[in-house]
Amino acid sequence: MSSILTASIGRKLLMSITGLFLISFITVHLAINLSLVLDDSGKLFNMGANFMATNPVIKIIEPLLGLGFLIHILWSLNIGYQNWKARPVRYQKTSLSKSSTWASRNMLILGTLLFVFLIIHVINFFLVIKFNPHLMYTVTVNGIEMEDTYTLVASLFKDSIAYCILYILGGLLLGLHLSHGFWSAFQTLGLNNKYWMKRLQVIGRIYAILVAIGFSAIPLYFIIKF
Ligand code: HEM
Repeated sequence: MSSILTASIGRKLLMSITGLFLISFITVHLAINLSLVLDDSGKLFNMGANFMATNPVIKIIEPLLGLGFLIHILWSLNIGYQNWKARPVRYQKTSLSKSSTWASRNMLILGTLLFVFLIIHVINFFLVIKFNPHLMYTVTVNGIEMEDTYTLVASLFKDSIAYCILYILGGLLLGLHLSHGFWSAFQTLGLNNKYWMKRLQVIGRIYAILVAIGFSAIPLYFIIKF
């Protein structure tokens, strides 16, 4: 029994480490994105986006982030497959649902939906900025010429209610995924005694709610205001 447990924790370790790395990216990403609603001139967001695009440390972290996403996704599929192979007999399902949350039982589904969202998201912004700069306007903020990322994002949300809804759903999905993923990552890393578990669960839920509301509020703001 204990060796099964150790093997399962070993498998989850990579998910936890990459997950925590992605959580730190998501926190910075949300903080910068919130400037979309704090300043309609777009200056604040453009400064944040320009900092992320030009800072040498971020340039080193960016490929690692891509790798982190890739490992997190591929490894989750591997774990999902291993768990499916070793799945218990079906009648145990009802007792499982009493001791776990809906999100924790559906992490693979939530992750897959997030992955679909992420592909659309990367096509919307990242690929345009990196590989189609001729589609971008430029602006000068505080004497520095930079790409007008604000106009790219704001136009998408102003022009399409469908994209706004998609991004609202993306924020909610991410929140649900994190409502289990956040504390589960720490649990796997060893903070799994009773004292820490309860606290991490509460912190994880608060964090997940803030992330869901934060990301969803941005397209919602554009629906209401423009
Ligand atoms: C209102 C919601 C969001 C907005 C407005 C937004 C905006 C952006 C923009 C403008 C970029 C391109 C940045 C650049 O290359 O300079 C970007 C990239 C990215 N976003 Fe988002 N995002 C949102 C939600 C999310 C969510 C929910 C996730 C995670 C699940 C996410 C993950 C990513 C990733 C992985 C990249 C590519 C990494 C990179 O640019 O370095 N975003 N986002």
